[in-house]
Amino acid sequence: MKNTIQLYHDYIRKRGSGLDIFQKITEQFQIKSGLYPGSFVHITPSLVIPEMYYNDLDKNANRFFEVLSEPLEYVNQNKQYTEDAQIAYEAADFTSVLKAKINYYDLLISLYSSFISQHCKAYLKTNGVLLVNDSHGDATLAFYDRDYAFIGVVEVLQNGAKIKTEELDQYFKFKRERPVDIDKIRLQMKVPKYQNQSEYYLFRKIK
Ligand SMILES: C[S@@+](CC[C@H](N)C(=O)[O-])C[C@H]1O[C@@H](n2cnc3c(N)ncnc32)[C@H](O)[C@@H]1O
Repeated sequence: MKNTIQLYHDYIRKRGSGLDIFQKITEQFQIKSGLYPGSFVHITPSLVIPEMYYNDLDKNANRFFEVLSEPLEYVNQNKQYTEDAQIAYEAADFTSVLKAKINYYDLLISLYSSFISQHCKAYLKTNGVLLVNDSHGDATLAFYDRDYAFIGVVEVLQNGAKIKTEELDQYFKFKRERPVDIDKIRLQMKVPKYQNQSEYYLFRKIK
């Protein structure tokens, strides 16, 4: 297997690190802890969030986190906060019960990995923030879930990320008004084609 941190660098070369997104969210919402189900080896959030709980079931991800001191050393050398970094990893299916703390994390991250807003809601604290994209329809599920309030989108610009909290009523709308088939999304993980889409959506857990 490749050197642990090399695997992370190779991965973010392809997907982008998203550091500016996590920086912006952390700043704006004073995030100190986060849960990242379906993280693969994407440890970028740890560079700005002191306490992170990662989860995946992929064998390369399991190996990456096997010797936790390796990702931890990298994070401690590159982090942007003063306290020591805390990293935990659980090799498990996030549709089953995780060992993560209940009603605890400031941020829940759902990127490209199905319905984390639903399966992992219990671990996010009330008033905590969900960062989610709609690659599998998870942002749409959060939008129609009364436990979440839609509070913003993240725009990625050349000079960094920006959180937009106004004019949100343009999102999750079709050109011609029609209802969304939530059951179809759950079944097919296929995203409806909205008139205006964002790459990243933000919700607050309100219940
Ligand atoms: C496309 S990758 C995205 C990785 C990361 N979220 C990112 O944005 O770079 C999806 C990841 O989700 C993981 N995954 C999918 N379903 C899962 C499940 N039920 N439990 C745990 N991990 C899961 C996969 O193993 C894979 O590593």
